[in-house]
Amino acid sequence: MSRLKDRVAVITGGSQGIGAAYARSFTAEGAKVVIADVAPADNLIAEIEEVGGTAMFIETDVTNEAAVTKMATMAVDAFGRIDVLVNNAALWVNIPAKPILDIPKEEWDRVLDVNINGMFLCTKAVVPQMRAQGYGKIINISSGRALKGYTNLLHYDTSKGAVISFTRSIARELGDDGIRANTIAPGGIMTEAVLAHDVVRTHIAKGTATRAIKREQVPEDVVGACIFLASAESDFITGQVLAVDGGSAMN
Ligand SMILES: NC(=O)c1ccc[n+]([C@@H]2O[C@H](COP(=O)([O-])OP(=O)(O)OC[C@H]3O[C@@H](n4cnc5c(N)ncnc54)[C@H](O)[C@@H]3O)[C@@H](O)[C@H]2O)c1
Repeated sequence: MSRLKDRVAVITGGSQGIGAAYARSFTAEGAKVVIADVAPADNLIAEIEEVGGTAMFIETDVTNEAAVTKMATMAVDAFGRIDVLVNNAALWVNIPAKPILDIPKEEWDRVLDVNINGMFLCTKAVVPQMRAQGYGKIINISSGRALKGYTNLLHYDTSKGAVISFTRSIARELGDDGIRANTIAPGGIMTEAVLAHDVVRTHIAKGTATRAIKREQVPEDVVGACIFLASAESDFITGQVLAVDGGSAMN
């Protein structure tokens, strides 16, 4: 398949979990992928290359503006352009669930820093290149939690709500530059990190009952939406929120 043939995509937080699924599926669709993550992606890159795909890893902390700017420059040096940015990196599975009065300010700041400031910095870093091309796709990853309201992860839920506002405003700001921005709001997904975490896995498994499609969600359930929003098929769609959660949140 070649819906992303010769497209260049940066995927933040692409070393594991849903980000790794985006990387696998994007390369299978012909894209050249840059994985920008604090964690290494050696096995994933080897796996992608073994089946003929093209991907490179650039160690990047999305909260570090200099590192993010360097990553964007390296991506252009390596592949000539940046067509797609998937702002996927986030802190969440290892945040201990707790009510507002127990959330230390430092923890609140750190979650917002990675989940929102990181999105801002990565978007800022790729916009000049996308603008010069007259074309770009920004896909920001929110969460079904932002659509429904939940307890005990107020910082995370706040960050994922901000993703939606950020996307709508940046979509308007960049529309005349040929750049589209959309949000994907996945439901609770059984990633390797979730499966390794008893409390989160149990919480997500219970959420299956809220869906129209009552089965557990896996990373591959989200890749179709992400490919669609990255591809030319969605060129007249911007500022939207696409919930991919088996019909749990219905707006
Ligand atoms: N898994 C779910 O149930 C679920 C549901 C809804 C939304 N989401 C969202 O989907 C995205 C991916 O989730 P996941 O479950 O695959 O997460 P994950 O924890 O498995 O992976 C997150 C990745 O982000 C990277 N990362 C963390 N901090 C970073 C930083 N400062 N700079 C660069 N990279 C950093 C990690 O190293 C990791 O590779 C996140 O935005 C998450 O909020 C996940």
